[in-house]
Amino acid sequence: MALCFSFLLCFGPQVSAQIRYTVPEEIKEGSVVGNIAKDLGLDVSTLVDRRFRIVSGSKDAFFQVNQNNGELYIHKSIDREELCDGNGACVVNLKTAVENPLEIHYVAVEVTDINDNHPSFSEQNQHFEIAEHTPLGTSFQLHAARDQDASPYSVRLYKLSQDENFEIYIRNSDEEKIPFLVLKKPLDREHKSEHLLILKALDGGNPPKSGTLNITVTVLDSNDNRPVFSQDTYSVSLQENSPIGTTVIKINASDSDEGPNSEIEYALGKTLKRKVYDIFQLDRITGEIKVKGAIDFEDTDVYKLDVQASDKGQPPLSAQGRVIINIQDINDNMPEIELTSLSNIVAEDCKPGTVIALINNMYSLVTKGRLDRELVPHYDITITATDLGQPTPCLINLKFALENPLEIHYVIVEILDVNDHAPSFPESQMDLEIGESALPGARFQLQAARDSDSGSNSVHQYKLGHNDNFRLEVKDRGEDGKIPVLILQKHLDRELTRTINLHITALDGGKPAKSGTMDITINVIDINDNVPVFTKDIYSVMLNENAPIGTPVIQVNATDCDEGSNGEVVYSFGKNVNSKVRKLFDINTITGEITVEGLLDYEDKDSYEIDIQASDKGTVPHRTDKKILIDVLDINDNVPIFTKESYTVVLNENAPVGTTIVQVNATDMDDGQNGQVVYALGNNVNNNLRELFQVNPVTGEIIVTGVLDFEVKDLYEIDIQASDKGIVPLATDKSVIIKIVDVNDNAPEIEVTSFSNAIPEDSRPGTTVALISVTDLDSGLNGKISCSISDDIPFKLMPSSHDNIYSLVTSGLLDRETKFQYDITLVAKDAGQQTLSTIKTITALISDVNDNIPEFSFSPYAFYVMENNVPGKFVFSVSATDKDSNENSFDFEIVKTFQFHVVAADSGTPQWRKILNICKIGVLCSAVFSLPGLSVPVHLYGEVVFTWSVYGQDLI
Ligand SMILES: *[C@@H]1O[C@H](CO)[C@@H](O)[C@H](O)[C@H]1NC(C)=O
Ligand SMILES: *[C@@H]1O[C@H](CO)[C@@H](O)[C@H](O)[C@H]1NC(C)=O
Ligand SMILES: *[C@@H]1O[C@H](CO)[C@@H](O)[C@H](O)[C@H]1NC(C)=O
Ligand SMILES: *[C@@H]1O[C@H](CO)[C@@H](O)[C@H](O)[C@H]1NC(C)=O
Repeated sequence: MALCFSFLLCFGPQVSAQIRYTVPEEIKEGSVVGNIAKDLGLDVSTLVDRRFRIVSGSKDAFFQVNQNNGELYIHKSIDREELCDGNGACVVNLKTAVENPLEIHYVAVEVTDINDNHPSFSEQNQHFEIAEHTPLGTSFQLHAARDQDASPYSVRLYKLSQDENFEIYIRNSDEEKIPFLVLKKPLDREHKSEHLLILKALDGGNPPKSGTLNITVTVLDSNDNRPVFSQDTYSVSLQENSPIGTTVIKINASDSDEGPNSEIEYALGKTLKRKVYDIFQLDRITGEIKVKGAIDFEDTDVYKLDVQASDKGQPPLSAQGRVIINIQDINDNMPEIELTSLSNIVAEDCKPGTVIALINNMYSLVTKGRLDRELVPHYDITITATDLGQPTPCLINLKFALENPLEIHYVIVEILDVNDHAPSFPESQMDLEIGESALPGARFQLQAARDSDSGSNSVHQYKLGHNDNFRLEVKDRGEDGKIPVLILQKHLDRELTRTINLHITALDGGKPAKSGTMDITINVIDINDNVPVFTKDIYSVMLNENAPIGTPVIQVNATDCDEGSNGEVVYSFGKNVNSKVRKLFDINTITGEITVEGLLDYEDKDSYEIDIQASDKGTVPHRTDKKILIDVLDINDNVPIFTKESYTVVLNENAPVGTTIVQVNATDMDDGQNGQVVYALGNNVNNNLRELFQVNPVTGEIIVTGVLDFEVKDLYEIDIQASDKGIVPLATDKSVIIKIVDVNDNAPEIEVTSFSNAIPEDSRPGTTVALISVTDLDSGLNGKISCSISDDIPFKLMPSSHDNIYSLVTSGLLDRETKFQYDITLVAKDAGQQTLSTIKTITALISDVNDNIPEFSFSPYAFYVMENNVPGKFVFSVSATDKDSNENSFDFEIVKTFQFHVVAADSGTPQWRKILNICKIGVLCSAVFSLPGLSVPVHLYGEVVFTWSVYGQDLI
C-alpha cells in the first residue's frame, strides 16, 4: 500500500496532470472529490461503454470513479500523515482511461492537512543536574516536540513556565525548532535546590493543540558558603576546680551547603597560649569544650579561646569564633591569723583600752572594761577570722592565758645589742630588666640589705649564688653601709635565656652570722636581632579554578624569636609580584592567610609562583622572602566545542554497513576527565536514525549501520552530542548533514495497462494494443529510461505526450492465417553508467475475421456411377476446406452429422450430373441441404448413395 503510493508520488512530478483537485484529509468515505468526466469534457453517457476507470493499479485505492456520472469519490478515508511524509504537498496521482478510442487522463488529488495531531514529546520528563557555579548563559538542549501535521499545523512555539533562573531559547534548524534551557540567573542551591519547569509546545492550529514536557533541574552543591557560628562570641562562666571532663559549652556552627560542603569540624585556634591547650579540649565533631586540666581562679580568672569551624569542602571554608570563659572563684583558701605584740599578762588595774595584742597588723585587741583578778583570774579569748566567701567560713582558734597570780613589774632595762637581728633586703624579690645589647662589664647597683643591729652585728658581706653571667662586687659607702653591685660577665641572648634568677645572700658579722636573702629575676629585654623565619621550607598548594572569592588558599606562618613588635610578623606580597597576581590573590598581613581575590582560570594559567615577604615590626624591620607555589586544578567549566562549524557529507546510497561517513571532532579545554570528550547521537535522534547510523563514542566516527536508500530518503540531519566526562558533564550538539547520492540500483519497471491481448487481424496499422508505463526509482541519468521492442514484428512503440508512457501500436497488416501469435519483447534501459534494464514479454494473439471462402478440394468433381448399382452403395466423397477458424469456417457440425442420401432413379436421364453441378458451387450446397433431396424432381433408376464429406482445417 505504502509502496504503491510512494511509487505514485515518485512518479507524480514527471507527469503533469490535466486536472487537479484538493481534498482535506480525513473526509468521510463517499465524499465527492470532483467530476472528472465533466472536467475533461467526456460524454457522460458513453462512460460505461467505454469502460471509464482508474488504471493506477492499486487494489486498495483511496479513490474510485462512478461510471454513471463521471464523479471521483473517496473510497477510503485518508490520513495524510500516514500517506505522506514531511511537509511538502501530499499529492496522489491517478491515471484514468476510457477505451474506444483509448484515452489516458491524469488527475492529481492534493490531500491537504488538517490539524488532527497535537505536538508530542518523545518523553514526558527530562532531568538535569546543574552545578551551582555554572556560568550564566549555559544552555541545555531539551527534547523537541513533534507534530505529524505539516506546516502551518506543525510545532510553532514553545512556552516555558515562569522561573527566575531559566529562560527558553529556540534554535531554528532546517526542519524543526529545538528548544534550549538557558541559565539567566545564577543558581543557588541554598535558596532553591530543585526547579520544576513545564515546557509547552503549541502548534499553529486555531485553536492550537499542545503537548507538555516536565523538566526537573536538580541543583548540585558547590562549597560557596562558609560555616557560621550560632554566636559571634560565646560567653560562659565556669567554677574553678571544676572536675576534668566537665562540659564548659557547646559551640555550634552551621553551613548551608550540602554533603561534605556542610559537614563541620571544630578546632581551637592555633595561636592560643600553651596553657589553654592543657586546660581545655574541643571535640572536633560535637563542638563541646571540656575541662582537661586544673582550673584555678587565683591563677587565671578569664580565658579567651579562639575557635575555628571548617567545612569539608574542596577546598574547605572556615569561620573564626571566640569563647570567653569567666572563672568563678570559690572559697578554697582559709584566712590566716598572725598575732604580734602579744602580752599574755595584763594588770587587773589597767585602764579599758589597754592594747593586749596586734592581729595581722590591722586589728588591736584591747580591754574594754575593768578587770578583777580576784573575780576572774583567767580569760580564754577566741579570735575568729572569717572571710566573706561562700559557703564555709574558716574558723581558727587561738588561745593565750593570763597567769595567776598576776604580777606586773615595770622595769628599766639597758638593752645591749646582741646579734638578734638578721640583715634583710627591703624586698625579698626584685625584678631587673637588662637589654640584650648590654655589654660585658655593665654594672647594676642593687639595694642594700639592712640590719637593725649595729657594729659588727650589722651587714658585713654579700654572696651571689652560682651564676655564669654575673659576678657581684660590694661597694662600701662607710656610714651608709655596703651596697651590692652586679657586673655583667658575658652577652645576654634573650632568645636563649629570657630570665635569669639570681639568689643573693647578705650576711652580718655576728657570731654566728645571721643572714637575709633576695631573689632577683633578671628579665632580658629584647632587641630586634632576629629575622622572621617561615615555619615551612616549601609552601605548595592545589586549588580549584573558579574558586569563589574569599576561598582560603594557604596560610603561611613565619615566626620571629624577638619579642614584642620586634617579633611581630606581618606578611605581604614581594615587590616583584605583578598586578595581575595581586588582583587574583590577597594576603592577610596579620594572619598570613592567602585568599582568592579574583577569577582563577585553569585554562588561562595553571600554576602561580608568588613571592611573599614576612617582616617584623622592629624600628629597623627584618625581612624574609618565600615562594608560594599554587597549582590551579581544573574544574569542568568548559563545554566541548566541535572543531568544525558544520559537517556536511555526501554518501553513496547502499554504502555497506560499517562504512565510515565522517569523523566529527570536539575538543574541551578542560583537563583530565573534564576534557575527555565522548560522542553520542543526540537525545532527539529518533529510533529510525539510530538503526541507520552509529557514532563511535571515542573517535567520533559516524558509521553506517543500516541500508541507506536514496529513493526512500536523500538527506539526513543527525544530531551528534559531544560530552565531557566531568562529574556534571557538559555537552554540545552539532548537526551532521548527510546527503545521499543516488546510485543506479533500481532497474526500470515496466507496467502494461489496458492491454487487449486479442487483436483483430483486420486492425489497421496504428491501432493501440497496450499502454506501457516505465518507471525507475533512481534519479537523474540512473532514472532516465529508453524503451524499445524488436523491429521484426508488425508492432512499434509510440511515445506519448508524457515521458515514460508509450502506446504499443500495430505497424503493419496482420493475417491471423499467416501468424496468429506474436511474442513482443519490451526492453526498458536506464541511462546510468552501469545500465540496468528490464525485459518484459507480452503475447499478442491475433483474432480471426471471416476473410476466407471454403474451398472444395476439386471443382468440378467428375465421377462415374455404374448403372444398376446396388442401392446404398458408397459412391464417392467430396471434401472442402476453409482457412478461417470457428464460425468463419464452414459448418462442420452440419457436415459431421448430416448423411445425405440421394435416391436416383434410373430414368435414363442423367439427372445426377445436374446435382453435382449444383453442388460444385460450395456456397450453394447449403441450399441443397435445406432441400433434402426432395425439392428437385428427379427420376431415380435405383438407389444411389452419396456421402457428402467436407474437410475444414479442424476436421479429421
Ligand atoms: C508534570 O508536572 C505536572 C505539574 O507538576 C504534574 O501534574 C504531572 O503529573 C507531571 N507529569 C508527569 C508525566 O510527570
Ligand atoms: C546548631 O544550630 C543549628 C541552626 O541554628 C540548629 O539547627 C542545630 O540544631 C544546632 N545544633 C546543635 C547540636 O545545637
Ligand atoms: C606558626 O608557627 C608557630 C611555630 O611553629 C606556631 O606556634 C604557631 O601556632 C603557628 N601559627 C599559625 C597561625 O599556624
Ligand atoms: C581534533 O582536533 C584537535 C584540535 O584541532 C586535534 O588536535 C586532534 O588531533 C583532532 N582529533 C582528530 C581525531 O582528528
